[in-house]
Amino acid sequence: MAISYPGFSFDITHRDPAGSKARIGTLSTPHGSIQTPNFIFCGTKAAIKGLTTEQMREEKTDIILANTYHLMIQPGADLVAKLGGLHKMMNWHGPMLTDSGGYQIFAMGHGSVADEVKGRRTTTREKTLLKITEEGATFRSYTNGEKLFLTPEKSIDIQRKLGPDFVVQLDECTPFHVDRKYTARSMKMSHRWGDRSLTAFKEFGGISANGLPQAMYGIVQGGVYPDLRKESAEIVGSQDFFATAVGGCLGATREQMHEVVGMAMAHVHPTRPVHLLGIGGIVDIFEGVALGIDTFDCVSPTRIARHGWALAPGAKGERLNMRNARFKDDDTPIDPDCDCYACRTASRGYIHHLLKAEEMLGMQLLTLHNVHTMNRLMRDIRAAIITGTLAEARRKWVWQPGDSE
Ligand code: GUN
Ligand code: ZN
Repeated sequence: MAISYPGFSFDITHRDPAGSKARIGTLSTPHGSIQTPNFIFCGTKAAIKGLTTEQMREEKTDIILANTYHLMIQPGADLVAKLGGLHKMMNWHGPMLTDSGGYQIFAMGHGSVADEVKGRRTTTREKTLLKITEEGATFRSYTNGEKLFLTPEKSIDIQRKLGPDFVVQLDECTPFHVDRKYTARSMKMSHRWGDRSLTAFKEFGGISANGLPQAMYGIVQGGVYPDLRKESAEIVGSQDFFATAVGGCLGATREQMHEVVGMAMAHVHPTRPVHLLGIGGIVDIFEGVALGIDTFDCVSPTRIARHGWALAPGAKGERLNMRNARFKDDDTPIDPDCDCYACRTASRGYIHHLLKAEEMLGMQLLTLHNVHTMNRLMRDIRAAIITGTLAEARRKWVWQPGDSE
């Protein structure tokens, strides 16, 4: 029987009059509705590093995510459930998603990939002792090296306990260096893991440990191969998911990534929301939106802030290095057009000093600015879709040769 997703809906309200596949949608959850396209900020370990959820709201954030992989290890899903689930624990009242562990286990810095090109069904990556079988994935805890095992069923059970609005099927994020044969085999296993994730979800009735309905994303894999992306998009579209995510290896260059996303987008379920996993560059967001992507996530806006970078609309490379000595005695705000807390209250010179002095306030102010800037970008994009002016918005946000540096 088909799964219904009570409490959830996605309504496409506008399409780009200028002819791209960009669209505006209303994505509704038991924790409220958001407008899409939108950006999901990463609160990997149930925290947006350095900020309170109240500060996230003040900078106009609509939706955040956390990670199954990190939270199952520390503090553990049962403990999060005991503390009332992620929303209550984090004091976040808006929509929220958890990723399944499919990326963190398979793609995040797990050493040797030498073995996986052989396309064996069971692959051991020597350096990490990670083992993938049809049943699930064996990996080591990032805190104490303890051996752990994650299956689609376990991932769904953990996400039921964590209690976000959106849960994600377990998948294998196909890495970059593998060949077509491995990619095809891995993609098919992810489809079977999608079925198992849905069965597990149905068994508990799609209700979180704290009593609210949840909705599930399926994941399109298929690497850089057009026919595999098509096959995956069609299969995931035929499975009983609420929404679609596009994952896996998207290629070696920015151009190839845009191409690969296009391959998937030509075949995804047309009325479900589509999330592009792990992508958050400003140019990439403009490209993705024009291909019909509804939501994005990426650690980059908050991570680069902790390394001293401010997102800067129109700047070459999309960002400014606030540690640069040229900002030492600059008494202007990071961005005169930004009304985030940092730009209203702090000068470039002050932020430069805080970074040099290793005061954590420096990172915090830059995080506020970058969060605000991503939210402003997405608002500008939504406004531009309605008026058919995405090209003009892109000119404003994205540096081009000939612009000042
Ligand atoms: N984040 C970035 N890529 C992926 C992917 O392929 N799968 C999952 N689950 N998360 C991701
Ligand atoms: Zn600002």
